[in-house]
Amino acid sequence: MKFQMSKKKAKIGRNNPCPCGSGLKYKKCCLRKGKAPPKTFESTRHFYYRQYKIRLKGKEDIEGIRQAGRLVLDTLDLVESEIKPGMTTDNINTLVHEFTVKNGAKPAPLRYRGFPKSTCVSVNEVICHGIPGDRVLNDGDIVNVDVTSVLKGYFADANKTFFVGTPGPNARKIVEISRDSMKAGIKMVRPGNTIGDIGWAIQKSAEGRGASVVREFVGHGIGFQFHEAPQVPHYGKRGDGIPLVPGMVFTIEPMINLGKKDLYLLKDKWTAVTKDGSLSAQFEQTVLVTEDGFESLTPYV
Ligand code: MF3
Ligand code: CO
Ligand code: CO
Repeated sequence: MKFQMSKKKAKIGRNNPCPCGSGLKYKKCCLRKGKAPPKTFESTRHFYYRQYKIRLKGKEDIEGIRQAGRLVLDTLDLVESEIKPGMTTDNINTLVHEFTVKNGAKPAPLRYRGFPKSTCVSVNEVICHGIPGDRVLNDGDIVNVDVTSVLKGYFADANKTFFVGTPGPNARKIVEISRDSMKAGIKMVRPGNTIGDIGWAIQKSAEGRGASVVREFVGHGIGFQFHEAPQVPHYGKRGDGIPLVPGMVFTIEPMINLGKKDLYLLKDKWTAVTKDGSLSAQFEQTVLVTEDGFESLTPYV
């Protein structure tokens, strides 16, 4: 008798791991005809890492990021209380650096991909990643200070745009539009919505008031590292992209220009500036997807 290969497909045992990557037994997962696989946290955690390289955070991780987030907010409050005309952007860097270290944390930007300072300070037409230096803050300027701290191994990232002295009408306008667009994005965060829903809401909010959304920089997963998967664009279509699930932690940080969205980088390869010289503002929070919505781990209004 001739040996013949079995025509049957290689069979997956009922008790073997499900090929979908859930980490569950096959019989408890995709073998259950017509039924959705049960969505335990552990199975989703495996699936999100294998599929998207997203590392979902557990209870302990979340508490760690929350504590780092508290320090980030305290740092921003300190900066706000000290900001005045005549200060240099490097003075702000010193405040952030010393306060962070004094509180047992590390400033994540320092030497990150060659970044030379402990915080990003972005004035007026600077969109983001301004390197602290000799630039003097003048009455009427707007200044974004972006703080990322590492406390007990956990990262949290937030920023705000402050007024220096008394703001003019354009400064007020772009800061308000920018803050509101971040809030519109955060409001979309709940299980079942997608990454695209966040960008869609931000874009609608900002463009609806005549401002523009920067495309080159995006929000990002955070917690175990400074920048993790996924990327979170601040523009997009409803329903596009990865579905949000509990345990995801990422930033929402729209950069909004009063003029056109285009930018260029200065010779330092970091400082991003509006091409048309218009004002740009930004607000950022680190947000957790919960069972029924979101929790900001760097909460402010
Ligand atoms: N904090 C910025 C962000 O929101 C990243 C700054 S990277 C640095 O993602 F190297 F410039 F610090
Ligand atoms: Co960020
Ligand atoms: Co940041």
